[in-house]
Amino acid sequence: MPPRKLHIKSYGCQMNVYDAQRMADALAPEGYVETASAEDADLVILNTCHIREKASEKVYSELGRLRAAKDQAARDGRGMSVVVAGCVAQAEGEEIIRRAPVVDVVVGPQSYHHLPELLARAKAAGRALETEFPVADKFGFLPQPSRQAIRARGISAFVTVQEGCDKFCTFCVVPYTRGAEVSRPVAKIAEDVQRLADNGVREITLIGQNVNAYHGEGPDGRPWPFGKLLYRLAEIPGIVRLRYSTSHPRDVEDSLIDAHRHLDALMPFVHLPVQSGSDRILAAMNRRHSASDYRRVIDRFRHARQDIAFSSDFIVGFPGETEEDFAATLALVGQIGYAAAYSFKYSPRPGTPAAELREAVSTADMDARLERLQKLIDSQQSAFNRTALGRTIDVLFERAGRKPGQIAGRTPYLQPAHVEASDAIIGQVLPVTVASLERYSLFGTLASIPASPAPLAPGEAQFQTTAGV
Ligand code: 5AD
Ligand code: SF4
Repeated sequence: MPPRKLHIKSYGCQMNVYDAQRMADALAPEGYVETASAEDADLVILNTCHIREKASEKVYSELGRLRAAKDQAARDGRGMSVVVAGCVAQAEGEEIIRRAPVVDVVVGPQSYHHLPELLARAKAAGRALETEFPVADKFGFLPQPSRQAIRARGISAFVTVQEGCDKFCTFCVVPYTRGAEVSRPVAKIAEDVQRLADNGVREITLIGQNVNAYHGEGPDGRPWPFGKLLYRLAEIPGIVRLRYSTSHPRDVEDSLIDAHRHLDALMPFVHLPVQSGSDRILAAMNRRHSASDYRRVIDRFRHARQDIAFSSDFIVGFPGETEEDFAATLALVGQIGYAAAYSFKYSPRPGTPAAELREAVSTADMDARLERLQKLIDSQQSAFNRTALGRTIDVLFERAGRKPGQIAGRTPYLQPAHVEASDAIIGQVLPVTVASLERYSLFGTLASIPASPAPLAPGEAQFQTTAGV
């Protein structure tokens, strides 16, 4: 049988990147091989995201384009199947089937391991839909058969530790599309990490919607906190770097802080979304922490590890956000000093409590606030990157660079770093003396001396930016 061509178009978060790889792995035994173009594919999967703005409209317009490609494939005498996966599939499954005849299969994130079966069902019956959440057993445990480790694809890999979220921030669809929080058992995660390490992976990013809510079953039969899981994984030979994303400020337990204090493999770069610096808005968002609670959490991390740096997510223009509220966000950003951050305009998500709120912020105000916030964040990021100049920093080399003779890797802070070297260094962590900076990338030379501890302590003049920029 000739290989069949599979094209996956993924939107959204790293969980979707991971899921796309998982779908490709699930379909590989059926003879599917990934291809870069949708037009000549036998199977196209849209791996959708529902988190912000007009997600479903984007899916329908993409489906419009695919209809033309599918018609062309039929004229060429070959078939093309179209699958809609991800959070839009989960949220609007029936609607997609009704509105888009081009779609053969709609599948929610809990059911990707059923893809071969669903495709066969669609072939026999015309269409197939599966968006059920798994049902808890009589002990209240949810099975998670679909979460297996993906095949190793390089030096760095994702591993899911938990999925879903019970926080119900009022703006967010995740608790509805990804369901209740479920943690995987420690033994299963350790097995996955071991297998990836045996296949050459050196860096693991533990992913989930709220990883530090982790409470999976430990080998002792008790729920383990996230920090304890990190200790266990750091023992696995071959794993030189551990990362995790995303975390909630309310779930930062001492075990996690302790892990940052003691584990060299745990990278000193933490994504800790705060969303807003205004206590009034944080309350309306149901974040259940204040700006000063957040600052205290940051201080605990910094106390444990002086070279730690942070990134965050922000939403501007949440309903009712005043200039004063927004000024509090800028002030918080100024106080923390981020190495990077993402900021978004608020977008009402159908079915979430915030979507019912009046007092919408005007588009013009939202645009202006987003611009001011992004400018401030950008200046912090540039200042942070400049602190690398002239320093010697550990880089994990991952792949050949864009230019011949160049090898690319990442610093502990995920900054891309490039040196001229042989590809024998791929997979190794080596000290690099940074000579120059181009936008967000660092360029340097392999150093003969060990890396110096990063002078990134809070309060450093070059890294603090005053609020209100
Ligand atoms: N509008 C705008 N941004 C949102 N996010 C989540 N929901 C919304 C929404 N309705 C952002 C949050 C979150 C990130 C993944 O996406 O900042 O942390
Ligand atoms: Fe959404 Fe994160 Fe809030 Fe959970 S903690 S509801 S995923 S924003």
